[in-house]
Amino acid sequence: MSGTSLSVGLPGVPAVPAAPRTGLSEDPQWFRTAVFYEALLRSFADSDSDGVGDFAGLTSRLDYLAWLGVDAIWVPPFYPSPMRDGGYDISDYTGIDPRYGTVEDFEGMVREAHARGIRVVIDMVLNHTSDAHPWFQASRSDPSGPYGDFYVWSDSDEAYAGTRVIFVDTESSNWTWDEQRGQFFWHRFFSHQPDLNYDNPAVVEAVTDVVRFWARTGVDGFRLDAIPYLVEREGTSSENLPGTHAVVARLAAVLAEEFPGTITIAEANQMPSEVVAYFGTPEAPECTMCFHFPVMPRIFRSLREGSADSIRQVLAETPDIPAHGQWGTFLRNHDELTLEMVTEDERALMYGWYAPEERMRANVGIRRRLAPLLGDSRDELMLAHALLLSLPGSPCLYYGDEIGMGEDIWLEDRDAVRTPMQWDRSRHMGFSSAPQDAALTLPLISAPGWAERNVADALADPGSLLHALRGLLTVRRQHPALGRGSFLMRASSSAAVLAHTRQDLSPDGEVLLCLANVSEEACEAVIGLEDLAGARTGVVLGGPEGSGEDAAVGEDGRLGVTLVPRGYRWLSLSLPVKES
Ligand code: GLC
Repeated sequence: MSGTSLSVGLPGVPAVPAAPRTGLSEDPQWFRTAVFYEALLRSFADSDSDGVGDFAGLTSRLDYLAWLGVDAIWVPPFYPSPMRDGGYDISDYTGIDPRYGTVEDFEGMVREAHARGIRVVIDMVLNHTSDAHPWFQASRSDPSGPYGDFYVWSDSDEAYAGTRVIFVDTESSNWTWDEQRGQFFWHRFFSHQPDLNYDNPAVVEAVTDVVRFWARTGVDGFRLDAIPYLVEREGTSSENLPGTHAVVARLAAVLAEEFPGTITIAEANQMPSEVVAYFGTPEAPECTMCFHFPVMPRIFRSLREGSADSIRQVLAETPDIPAHGQWGTFLRNHDELTLEMVTEDERALMYGWYAPEERMRANVGIRRRLAPLLGDSRDELMLAHALLLSLPGSPCLYYGDEIGMGEDIWLEDRDAVRTPMQWDRSRHMGFSSAPQDAALTLPLISAPGWAERNVADALADPGSLLHALRGLLTVRRQHPALGRGSFLMRASSSAAVLAHTRQDLSPDGEVLLCLANVSEEACEAVIGLEDLAGARTGVVLGGPEGSGEDAAVGEDGRLGVTLVPRGYRWLSLSLPVKES
């Protein structure tokens, strides 16, 4: 493949210039500078006209993802499932739901992704299974059999009373009565998703074998779904318990020994000090990456408040992480924009700003897409991404957000943000050539103004959001300090202006100053850079037009900057070479 060759995806899609990358990089630390992309398989691209996205469809769009600048895709669960929780209700851990294709299709996708330099991370749902899983069927029908203890059973529904309910819209208790066994079973999510019993060593062995099974296929990593809830104990919240960490550490040890280089990403929706624990310690490492849940809602909050203080605060409360770890950052994903990790006051503010209609809410969060959340404002979308790409961590994009895709709050639950990808203006927006509308996995977005958005048009328009975001990704790729550099928050005389530096600690590594004006007003600010007094500034990235700054940091270590409304700047800082 060369940089100028063209590749063609599904019919009707304009050719995307193939990425110049070939093969995977040798860098074992690839995840530090990587941009991740969550590709919701069933809604991404349908190759066989059954209305459901599949592996062959995803494979046919890899050139697009490579062109965009994606380094790794995260593929949510594709295992056989009754599909009562978007596939997070698994009924066979080592199978592939035939709607998504065959094992060969899966392997083909991994191979083709790797050929384009794209890594593949798959979802591992270890906390629970579907009640249709044979383990649960055996557990409920044969309490003294080999699977009798695979789940958490109790004669009463009063145990672990200190544990919160997560899916408050649908569940009133974490216990559900099972007629067949004549006992209650424990579940942190839907009542059709019984939690596995991690106090049973046979469960730990069984799931470790599942992880081994998929690691053998050559995937590059696992997203560990709902990881804080593995173990429960009386008198606690049953979250983040030592027993849970022990299981994660054991999995990490197995991967390190048998599949070195395979990464894990924790979905631990917890406060900063608790999330950090999922990195483990240098002696007992746990995950390679953890999604930084607490910072995400603060990015949204800052844009409405016109102050970056809440971002500053949450980062100040975020402890340092061990050297093997890296944050994962995101703006949106396939779930609701969770407001579990904010205060009650913040939640009320966020609902007021971002979910004025009741239908926009789900559980403790907001079931909306990025572009509509930000009022389809190009400036806000770019600023939010500039923050995402410069704060500590590796960013993860959500499919469709790069073209400003819309939402459908008339669909149930989180399906509001899981509608088919809009590729072009052909039938079913190029997602599928299924004959009937009803055959689509979910209906396409139909709201005027949103229904027409598509990749082909965005590709053809050099001024599109898609091209602008690709430009941001390209700049990030050119500055590894943004991925692997140290992070330091800088004093700013304006609450609206967030200023931080990222410093590549390798010899000759660069120092970048990242500035963001989260307010709707133009802002002047003086930034404290005492250790960089006299450094010259060079513009690496700036937007929207018209942002300006001094050419050098003053001898007093201060830099004056002016930022247009919602403006952002990334500046390189170089200290003058000292005369010897
Ligand atoms: C995770 C998934 C979510 C799912 C839940 C229960 O939070 O991201 O989609 O509903 O686990 O499986």
